Amino acid sequence: MRCWQHGPILRIRTPAKLNLFLDIHARRPDGFHELETLMVRVGLFDTLRFEEEDSEASHLRIVDSGERIDPLRSSPMPELPADGNNLILRAVQALQDFTGENRTTRITLEKKIPVASGMAGGSSNAAATLVALNHLWQLGLSRDDLFEIGAGLGSDVNFFLSGANAAVCRGRGEIIEPVAVPADLSFVIVRPHTGLSTAEVFRHCRPSETIRPARPLVEALQAGRIGRAGTLLFNALQRPAETINPEIRALRKRFASLPVTAHQMTGSGTAYFGLCSNRKLARRIAARLNSENLGRVFVA
Ligand code: C5P
Repeated sequence: MRCWQHGPILRIRTPAKLNLFLDIHARRPDGFHELETLMVRVGLFDTLRFEEEDSEASHLRIVDSGERIDPLRSSPMPELPADGNNLILRAVQALQDFTGENRTTRITLEKKIPVASGMAGGSSNAAATLVALNHLWQLGLSRDDLFEIGAGLGSDVNFFLSGANAAVCRGRGEIIEPVAVPADLSFVIVRPHTGLSTAEVFRHCRPSETIRPARPLVEALQAGRIGRAGTLLFNALQRPAETINPEIRALRKRFASLPVTAHQMTGSGTAYFGLCSNRKLARRIAARLNSENLGRVFVA
């Protein structure tokens, strides 16, 4: 994750991810599901700004990227609280618990990654918070320390901590095997009007009896066989998500009539993406979808 420091202020860009493959194997005694997923970082970013603050507690303010700042509200998004439930402040707390550090910080989050979309904006923000404060407060935590704290915050946090552009993730998602895939994949992404809770989607899923590996998809991507890769895209959470949220079914039908190589939901939804043969095509499709009131449309 790229960060810039000017005196006491540190800024860091935090990327989103898409799941090109996600299979669920079994529900574990701890309530999490054993899974195998291929995650890729995509060029859609939030920005976090950290500043030293001498106060009782750390503070977070959220700014909707591109919107005007309302100085009276700490979050312009009702579904994204700026209180202690936010993963950013939970990451600060976890870091303090781990190290005994008691300095505080003022954080501004400029939010662009849609929330409750399966693009792991919250996990990415949490990973960035750990990296930024380790640097700003000169805590000297190792990669393994950060991974340990990250895994306690959420299943996707370690993917972002790893710095990998793409990885096959296993366990509950926190065991990372970085893989090389072409960096120039183009996606058109729609986040419909409503979001979904990850826990609710997992509650509705039925784990596979036979284990599907992500490896054939990784190999197809590495060989540049994008058409073949398209046939291997998979997300076991899509069917349960479609039963809970009709917007996803509608997006599947809409994408089926578009000239994309393949399409599916990412993570636990609700964002839905099409893999495109090139960026120009992704932009053209995005322009068309933008006029259809399906939700927010992105090219990444
Ligand atoms: O780890 P994270 O906070 O993203 O998980 C949110 C919820 O999603 C968990 O509380 C759990 O219900 C579900 N989950 C799961 N198996 C996973 C990851 C998440 O059941 N591997």
